[in-house]
Amino acid sequence: MGLRDRLKGAVKKVIGAAEAPKAPTRAIVGVGKDTPDGYRVVAAEGAIAEGGAGTYGHNNNRVVAVFLKDGAYYAIDNECRHEDGPVGEGEIRGCTVKCPYHEWEYDFTTGKCLTQPDSRLETYKVRVQDGFIQVGPMLTPGTTMRGGEHNDGLKVITR
Ligand code: FES
Repeated sequence: MGLRDRLKGAVKKVIGAAEAPKAPTRAIVGVGKDTPDGYRVVAAEGAIAEGGAGTYGHNNNRVVAVFLKDGAYYAIDNECRHEDGPVGEGEIRGCTVKCPYHEWEYDFTTGKCLTQPDSRLETYKVRVQDGFIQVGPMLTPGTTMRGGEHNDGLKVITR
């Protein structure tokens, strides 16, 4: 230990200087905030029950539906490719969800539409960090076309 270190130690002892508090290494996050690496904090962990879903605004100006299945989270675009129904508010069975409007069915782990195989919803990265569910960048792209047959027995009547 050199003279400089001994002097520093002596000064610390005299003035009672403690170690400076360490700065947090991560940004403080909360619901609705965006993380520096591109995730939107959408809900507190525990907000979605096992086997359930929630819908949230994403930082790409879309609404996403987040599902919790067997302890894993999945996120898809919430806009049905039939007529824009809110997919995340539909009936969930296993890994599928039925759009509440006309029952198009989607696999929420892949975004694939089971009713119209040429349609699919975007999927997004999801993680739980710092006690919050966070939805990140797109994993797989969706289709943009809308329209097609109803799947609920209703027929479209045109005059
Ligand atoms: S809007 Fe979803 S099935 Fe019609």
